[in-house]
Amino acid sequence: MSAAKVDLVIKGGRVVSESGIVDANIAVTDGKIAGIFAPALAPDATQVIDATGRYVLPGLIDVHVHFREPGMAHKENWTTGSQAAAVGGVTTVFEMPNTDPPTDNLNNLATKRDLAERQSIVDFGLYGLLGEHNLSELERLADGGVIGFKLFLGNTTGDLPCPDDGAVLEGFEILASLGLRCSIHAENSPILFWRQRALQAAKRNDPLAHLAARTDVVALEALNRSATLAEWTGARIHIVHESCARSIDFIKFWKGRGVDLTVETLPQYLYLDAEMMLDDGGEVIRMNPPIREKAHQEPLWQAVLDGTIDMISTDHAPHAIEEKRGDDVWKLACGFPGVETSLPLMLTAVNRGRLRIEDIAKLMAASPARAFGLYGQKGVIAVGADADITLVDLNAEAVLSASSLHSKGKCSAYEGMTVKGLPVMTLVRGHVVAKNGEPVAEQPRGRMVSPTMPAPRPRNQATTLKAVLEPHQKPYGDPF
Ligand code: NCD
Ligand code: ZN
Repeated sequence: MSAAKVDLVIKGGRVVSESGIVDANIAVTDGKIAGIFAPALAPDATQVIDATGRYVLPGLIDVHVHFREPGMAHKENWTTGSQAAAVGGVTTVFEMPNTDPPTDNLNNLATKRDLAERQSIVDFGLYGLLGEHNLSELERLADGGVIGFKLFLGNTTGDLPCPDDGAVLEGFEILASLGLRCSIHAENSPILFWRQRALQAAKRNDPLAHLAARTDVVALEALNRSATLAEWTGARIHIVHESCARSIDFIKFWKGRGVDLTVETLPQYLYLDAEMMLDDGGEVIRMNPPIREKAHQEPLWQAVLDGTIDMISTDHAPHAIEEKRGDDVWKLACGFPGVETSLPLMLTAVNRGRLRIEDIAKLMAASPARAFGLYGQKGVIAVGADADITLVDLNAEAVLSASSLHSKGKCSAYEGMTVKGLPVMTLVRGHVVAKNGEPVAEQPRGRMVSPTMPAPRPRNQATTLKAVLEPHQKPYGDPF
């Protein structure tokens, strides 16, 4: 009788976690990590992957992608979006609800889930929308397994209306009891539209007018309003695409007060600045919140390093190239692809000595998994975890270009930039889904993931709208 064989061993690599690097062999069985062995040891395996000279990272989790299906498949679909993710070393994506129809009820969630299960080669979480019109659907969406909720306070692709503050408070009261995290696009939409109209009236259609409409206070006000309502209700929130250095002190303040607040920034805010919009073709970097002045970059890097900013994601927001180009900035679609270039950009920072590779494991795998209730199943290389693994060659170089993207959005904010450090193989639950910059999975294998959050911690429950509408309820707040 022969000893039990495992399905796969990844041999000879340097295994990275947020706390360190160890040389080890990783055994995989039934899609899960079955053992981690010292370099001299390894069980018999059906398949062996030689990872000599490679860093072995937990598969990346990108909590902010727009894969556009249903409704806008000319911009992206689940096949192309997930292939781009796999090539970029991303093994789990959380997809945003601003599709057509939006992910605002159980039916629409089921439609999107079905599309994703048929096409995606990576695992996925689906956000439910927190909108003014669907507060009665939030609990059902939670039961349906959404990874969290998304609140658009600014305007967005798909033109979802920004909910009234009263609806946001009521939504947070509901979410606080459910315990799921709410990702927030934190921009003040009355201010930005007011300023946009004034700029348009003054014939300011140039690329920098976009930033002028959304000056820093647009982000600061929405961050602080969101955190105020989160503290009051006990809702867990996540600020997406933090772009503004002035936010950092406020993030520290709210975290210090005990608000369950996590924050992401994006590679584009660390690498790009608004002046680049004036370059030939530079208008393609129009996005929301805007790429700001260069002075924002360094404080954002520092906040990433000191943990004030919890994670890096991408806001992968592809559009057809003709929607991205033109003379009138107000007519250009907002956002651009990112899911396949974020790891090379962040590894370039490792090569430049800005970050350690352990920081990548934290910022792009462990932190997102912890924030959204997946840690242990995902986000870490540990026995029992899903075998989601990204092999990295830290010395490999590439020149970024729109033409080599797998996304349908053939638009690069980094055209011609040389990056150093590339994902060379991506495995989802033990299956190779990308190799040397190309997707390889023959069958879609993506599965939906749902969160296991800590117990909800709602506050001021005596004065929620639901409570004060109950007969005989005295509208007293919590004692203070
Ligand atoms: C995003 C999109 O196109 O869906 N665009 C953007 O400029 N960031 C929407 C969003 O994330 O706000
Ligand atoms: Zn957004």
